Amino acid sequence: MLSRREFLAAAAAAVPIGYWGRGRVAPQPFLWGTSSSAYQIEGAARADGKGRSVWDAFVERPNAIAGGATGAVTCDFYHQYPHDIGLMRELGCNAFRFSVAWTRVLPDGTGAVNQPGLDFYRRLVDGLLRAGIEPVLTLFHWDTPLALHQRGGWQSRQMANWFGDYAAVVARALGDRVRWWLTINEPRSFIGGGYVAGVQAPGLRLSRHDALAAAHHVLLAHGRAVQTVRAEAGRAVRMGIPNDCTPVLPVEGASAEAARSATFATPLENFTARGWWNENAWWHDPVYHATYPAQALAALGSDAPAIAAGDMRQIAQPLDFIAANVYAGRTLDGRWPAGTARTAFGWPVTPEALYWAPRWLHDRYRLPVFVTENGCSEPDGVAADGKVHDPARQTFIGDYVAALRRAIADGTPVLGYLYWSLLDNFEWQAGFTQRFGLVYVDFATGRRVVKDSGRRFAAIQ
Ligand code: FCB
Repeated sequence: MLSRREFLAAAAAAVPIGYWGRGRVAPQPFLWGTSSSAYQIEGAARADGKGRSVWDAFVERPNAIAGGATGAVTCDFYHQYPHDIGLMRELGCNAFRFSVAWTRVLPDGTGAVNQPGLDFYRRLVDGLLRAGIEPVLTLFHWDTPLALHQRGGWQSRQMANWFGDYAAVVARALGDRVRWWLTINEPRSFIGGGYVAGVQAPGLRLSRHDALAAAHHVLLAHGRAVQTVRAEAGRAVRMGIPNDCTPVLPVEGASAEAARSATFATPLENFTARGWWNENAWWHDPVYHATYPAQALAALGSDAPAIAAGDMRQIAQPLDFIAANVYAGRTLDGRWPAGTARTAFGWPVTPEALYWAPRWLHDRYRLPVFVTENGCSEPDGVAADGKVHDPARQTFIGDYVAALRRAIADGTPVLGYLYWSLLDNFEWQAGFTQRFGLVYVDFATGRRVVKDSGRRFAAIQ
């Protein structure tokens, strides 16, 4: 096994200089840290002029969230962030991914800037930089301004411009200190959960036609934000879109080639049922190849999104890396053998996903990969000795990172690895029932306890 220092050095060396933003920016050390999002950790739901988002409204619906939980307080990161930056240092991190809550900056989504909201992110970024931690900023992690939702939200094409204008405000304020920019977190999960299945905000169950239109607007908004951030940041920044990727794995008798091709396939039967949004290529191909998968488009017929002239060019703005959220792989037939290890969420533990997904994404889209999320939930609790013993998470991280090392050793350029998450937090419709953190949070008091896995992360072997 490589030591951590050797691993980081090898990873950095594995990235050819030419991959860095097409020569616009210089290389830097492997990014090693954790990932988070605004609604899940900040709390302070009405502080300092913040407007309401669809999540603030959705959690008020009866039975929408396990245990009736909300993100109104959650980790109270809004106030406790200086302490949490200290924890990041303790955990040996050199990067931290967070998202900006659109409604802190523009309470109604458009219009006048709410300076106190913007100032929070400036303080956070400055604190990170002082601690030697690279900020990785996500512009949107699912918390759509309620006011814009009421004006059509993602169902309106206008949303691409609203989002672009918001992104410009953030870029003008933080472009001088933030180098790493992510646009829209996991369009697939967000459209699938919020607009198809209706189990996440805003809780819609749209027809396939309407959900596909919303998905198209999300991709247009991504492209528009890439344009406005690059124009307003005042210097070269590195940009990507964190798509989630579930690779089919070469297990259970499937060859690597069969698994790779299934990973990017868009089977006709999925495009004639309610499963279309689950296909990796639907979300990746437009962004990197300026095209929707042709077979799927044809199968959709009149449900296919209306693509106006110039749309695909707007969606496929040049990016600097492939941001990939990777939790698990799947088998060709979608079933895992009995006895497969699973997380508390029931997700299969498949470390090879972090070998194959980066490798295949790079092969197909020809950019270096940045793992912007990977992690597991476990039923953690504080033991009698005051510590949190989470051996399953230690094994999970060790095995997944080992797979990523193998990918790097075999020639896949990887820029960084961010574990989801630093803190236990509000896990959307699952409320506080799923603990993903390297740090345990007692939600009654806000107290943090570094888990055994956090110490392991700091000294990764
Ligand atoms: C991802 C989301 C993130 C978190 C993790 C567990 O799909 O991006 O917000 O919920 O799953």
